[in-house]
Amino acid sequence: MNAQAPFLWGAATAGHQVEGNNVNADIWLLEQVRGTTFKEPSGDACDSLNRWEEDVALIAGMGLNAYRFSTEWSRIEPAPGRFSRASLNHYAAIAQRCRAQGVAPVVTLSHFTSPRWFAAQGGWENSEAPALFERFAAQVAQALGDSVTHVVTFNEPNLPLMGRWTATPISDPVRDGLDAMLAEAARVSGSDRFSVWVYSRGEDVALSHLLEGHHRARRAWKSVAPQARIGLSLAVPDVQAVSDDRGVEAYRRFAETPFFEAVGEDDFVGVQTYGRLRLAADRVVGSDEAAERTQSGDEYYPQALGAAVRHAHAATGRPVFVTENGLAASDDDQRRRYLSAALRSLDEARRGGTPVIGYLHWSLLDNFEWRRGYSQQFGLVSVDRRTFRRTPKASAGVYADLVAARR
Ligand code: BGC
Repeated sequence: MNAQAPFLWGAATAGHQVEGNNVNADIWLLEQVRGTTFKEPSGDACDSLNRWEEDVALIAGMGLNAYRFSTEWSRIEPAPGRFSRASLNHYAAIAQRCRAQGVAPVVTLSHFTSPRWFAAQGGWENSEAPALFERFAAQVAQALGDSVTHVVTFNEPNLPLMGRWTATPISDPVRDGLDAMLAEAARVSGSDRFSVWVYSRGEDVALSHLLEGHHRARRAWKSVAPQARIGLSLAVPDVQAVSDDRGVEAYRRFAETPFFEAVGEDDFVGVQTYGRLRLAADRVVGSDEAAERTQSGDEYYPQALGAAVRHAHAATGRPVFVTENGLAASDDDQRRRYLSAALRSLDEARRGGTPVIGYLHWSLLDNFEWRRGYSQQFGLVSVDRRTFRRTPKASAGVYADLVAARR
């Protein structure tokens, strides 16, 4: 792709949240163990393992030109060094179907899940981890490299660090029950330590292995398919100082800087924004009682996107790819308003000179929202929990119109 490449308008999903029966994944095990902190198990999810053609058709049907999905490491490498040709073919078929429909396949190599065997070997704390991830990435590149246009190595690797400041649906500072759940997973796996990065404390040694994994995966992919654009995606709220900059500076040093420094050679920086984070010198400042809320109880604040995009570009010098932005909303009208306002703030950032290569809404489907189970509706399309039938919501039509107006 070149500088004239069309802006990418799309929607995103992640394997574990939509495929169903991802039984070799670390997080699947966490859902099952005694004392699990998951509201319910992922089970069949959206059955996208079987219904992926419908998912791609939904994207094309909205007039979008990008679909972000992830390749599940635990399906591709169910045992160390044993690669499943059928699974690689499966993901290659999704990428090819996208291309045939004029949709750019944006592939995430790691969206929170890893194989169960990887977690039981210490996850990212293990010094072998970067080489293991590189080996996996090379296999995916060989199978999919011809078709894939964009690669995200890791999804929100800064989340455990951000979690020290603020509760998110998948990571929270209180860690209630998390350590016990991980200990139980270690016990049933017969290992000393069951380590899952997104539920970790973001230990330094694991962080440095993970960043090395990013560099190695990028090199491995580029050596097979040099045309692909590669980056990683970060959780980037609109961080606002309340009365004093010290809190913001401390937050950025801890939860952003190591990652922003690591993307210096990348083709883009992936930005994922769900709202703002207001910080005084030593504490998070909650939103006003009267503020409008989303279904997850977070403040409704769509204009965060423009500020986050400007900041990520200023901090890295890289073009920005909005790889996720959205909200949990049982009231679809709130999603319609959100989309218009978020895209307006993105328009302003672009007009102000921030280079942005695309926008992907989270999510295409109502799906498995990690520890909150199926209680949150992030989708443009609803999914019947028994028949798996997909029904586009009114917001899907609104999004299609907003995109058409910007073409
Ligand atoms: C994650 C998604 C998640 C979404 C909504 C993002 O942090 O990448 O997997 O579903 O937020 O919580």
